[in-house]
Amino acid sequence: MRTQVGIVGAGPAGLMLSHLLHLEGIESVVLEDRSREYVENRVRAGVLEHGTVKLLEETGVGDRLAREALVHSGLELRFDGEGHRIDLSGLTGGKTITIYGQQEVVKDLIAARLRDGGDIRFEVSDVRLDGLTTDAPRIAYTHEGRTQELECDVIAGCDGYHGVCRDAIPAGVLTGFDRTYPFGWLGILAEAPPSSEELIYTYHDRGFALCSLRSPRLSRLYLQCRPDEDIDEWPDERIWEELRTRTATHDGFVLNEGPVIEKLVAALRSYVVEPMQYGRLLLAGDAAHIVPATVAKGLNLAVADVRVLAAALVQFFGSGKTDLLERYSETCLERVWRVQHFSWWMTTMLHRFDPDDRYQQRLQISQLRYVTSSTAAATTLAENYVGLPL
Ligand code: FAD
Ligand code: PHB
Repeated sequence: MRTQVGIVGAGPAGLMLSHLLHLEGIESVVLEDRSREYVENRVRAGVLEHGTVKLLEETGVGDRLAREALVHSGLELRFDGEGHRIDLSGLTGGKTITIYGQQEVVKDLIAARLRDGGDIRFEVSDVRLDGLTTDAPRIAYTHEGRTQELECDVIAGCDGYHGVCRDAIPAGVLTGFDRTYPFGWLGILAEAPPSSEELIYTYHDRGFALCSLRSPRLSRLYLQCRPDEDIDEWPDERIWEELRTRTATHDGFVLNEGPVIEKLVAALRSYVVEPMQYGRLLLAGDAAHIVPATVAKGLNLAVADVRVLAAALVQFFGSGKTDLLERYSETCLERVWRVQHFSWWMTTMLHRFDPDDRYQQRLQISQLRYVTSSTAAATTLAENYVGLPL
């Protein structure tokens, strides 16, 4: 079989790329190792940047989002028992963020691809890449018990952090940069109306807490925990108790509670590889970089990458020119490193590192007071949070 672009992975990066290419008349085949049901129900990110939403709308996959998503124009930073609102819109010339689950974006993109006759193969296995430095790279894989081969002009590695594409690049080509934080997040999804219309990021002596949401009936809440925290040691009541303690305010904040329908522990980690390409293989999204969840950027970065990649492929297939493709990694990495810095800065400001390090605690409080009282500092947070222009 032949296609123009072989895409490994049906997450936000792979699906959005396939959709953007289709709109430009470029063929692709998406290979995914999980089932459709699994990828459509995998709960992950929930905050979309202004530019991500615009792209979904402009490319015809924003109808359900326009009906169901919640638009936010601010967020709260809470410390010393007091909340401080950051007016995201007021500080960024009217930009907003949108609450819409990643799995909803994935569902909308799969529906659009299938409606448009797209080729997505779920439940493939043994994906192997070959011929990456030739004009006809190949993907071998097993589907419905048969070994198949897909010959492509270009391969997009959109298979996430644990995928196989990055490892198909010979040793010595890539340089990896990483940071592992000495803590993780314990997250829950609860059937409880959100306690606040906007997100609350809390700095507390006992550690960070975040109140987020998915809908007017569903709350998404996170607690800083040990990176190897055993979830079995956290019955629901212990989680609520800890959330109540960390989010308490002097004026009596009430945390809405309800049945917990999902629980997870996630590590907080950063990782970047340079370059994001090798021969005819281009990496996009989590396959090339991850950020700690603190500022909800992973999905948005994945979409930004494939937007750059789609434009480069349009040039390549239209005119045979390769300059945009050659600059793909350099173009993406500029945004990737800005987001790496922003997520490191917010993670460092909001989490407890060493409980005995009182010097660092004083620095964190000083920084929080500055960000919540200086327009210049708040603007830095706001413009990075809503997303810098694509
Ligand atoms: P993925 O979404 O990982 O998609 C990759 C796809 O490739 C998957 O469908 C996978 O099944 C498939 N695949 C993997 N290996 C193979 C293979 N060998 N062959 C074929 N297919 C393969 N970001 C935020 O911004 N906010 C959050 O709150 C947040 N929470 C998260 C919670 C968790 C538990 C995780 C893991 C991530 C979270 N993220 C969050 C990050 C965000 O979800 C990712 O950045 C985003 O999914 C990146 O999209 P992607 O398409 O690059 O990768
Ligand atoms: C979420 O709703 O899952 C969420 C929101 C904001 C974050 C991280 C996760 O910074």
